[in-house]
Amino acid sequence: MPKATNAVSETPTRRRVLITGAGLGLTVTACTRDADPPEDARGPGFHGLRQAGVTTPRQATALLLAYDLDPALRGAAGARALKAVLGTWTQALAGTLESDSSRAARLTATLGIGPALPARLGLRAPAALRDLPAFTGDRLDPDRCGGDLLVQLCADTADATEGIASTLTRLAGETLYPRWRQDGFLPPSPDGGTTPRSLLGFPDGPANPTPEECERWVWSGNATYLVVRRVHLRVEDFARLAVRRQEEIIGRDRSTGGPLDGGPLDGGPLDGGPSAGGPSAGGPSAGGPSAGGPSVGGPVDAAPPRSHVRAVSPRLDAGARMLRRGYSYADGPTDQGLLFLAFMRDPALFARVQRRMATQDELSGFTEARGSAVAYILPGARAGRPLGAELLG
Ligand code: HEM
Repeated sequence: MPKATNAVSETPTRRRVLITGAGLGLTVTACTRDADPPEDARGPGFHGLRQAGVTTPRQATALLLAYDLDPALRGAAGARALKAVLGTWTQALAGTLESDSSRAARLTATLGIGPALPARLGLRAPAALRDLPAFTGDRLDPDRCGGDLLVQLCADTADATEGIASTLTRLAGETLYPRWRQDGFLPPSPDGGTTPRSLLGFPDGPANPTPEECERWVWSGNATYLVVRRVHLRVEDFARLAVRRQEEIIGRDRSTGGPLDGGPLDGGPLDGGPSAGGPSAGGPSAGGPSAGGPSVGGPVDAAPPRSHVRAVSPRLDAGARMLRRGYSYADGPTDQGLLFLAFMRDPALFARVQRRMATQDELSGFTEARGSAVAYILPGARAGRPLGAELLG
């Protein structure tokens, strides 16, 4: 398993980063920490109204941990036991994440609860928390799916995430049992560019929402939802294709990440303007944000009808956005792919986009989801108020 140690230079405070490559001015938009939680010069830290690790610029490595609550624990007793663990976790996370060395490694921990937990503990379920539906083409391994508690740990060194992972598992005692874990990394950019690339060689994430779009589409108050998919990729078969063919499948230029006609990456308004054409025109996406409002993802004019960026375009979802924060994984030579991580205010968006991918996206011929999970990402911990306090009292 490669252990990436390169810090990725997604500058924390800038909202739009201008990459000038191959003569193309490519504007990369991404959520930053401007809105919340504030990151000081020393690194992310822990306390805040919202948890870090959502809008935080991607660190070099990720470790996902899923735990199950002891099956014997239910109702009020189960809620008490979980509250006790979350209390000790909060203390441990505050102590570790606020330290200078963790801040230097940009260590973040982001906790969420799975769909089965609220009913089992007699708690009021967050409105949009439910299991994802089954999708055509998935080949899910139950041992890599689900979980009552999900923890996303990210840092610029794998040592930092491993250290805090063992602490959390030790403190979970006999209340939470490890269910699955998955680590991820950002492959180094071949040209030393600032945008991470996926194992398919394309820049990954340049069409992500702006901070304003994240306020609207990613956050639900101080909470959000995380969708995890462990997507096996047929990397070698894809690499054997001519670059032009690869670009047709993704719908983007491989070296710049921009549109195939060389235009800018900034999308146009949802209704109006030539970018609103294509399969979405007049379709269910009509309406949504008013014309002239914020962009709705990358442009699709130059993208072939069965390309990935066509199938996943926010234009087909009335402008709804998700914040993709994925990593690559490599578990031996025959199993590598994308650890797809995306935050959104309602996972129903993911289900719509995934269904379109299954039916109209040529990229699906190279992908197979083998793991899957969804979680409600709790509001952040404030001084004297542990993680989960809103839910568990
Ligand atoms: C399976 C492997 C996948 C690969 C290699 C991949 C690759 C890419 C690439 C290269 C882009 C364009 C650049 C950018 O990141 O902004 C992109 C955009 C995007 N992808 Fe994927 N993707 C994958 C899976 C998925 C899945 C499972 C979903 C959701 C169901 C998804 C949703 C999106 C969305 C929403 C965009 C932005 C489109 C826009 O705003 O215009 N992708 N993807």
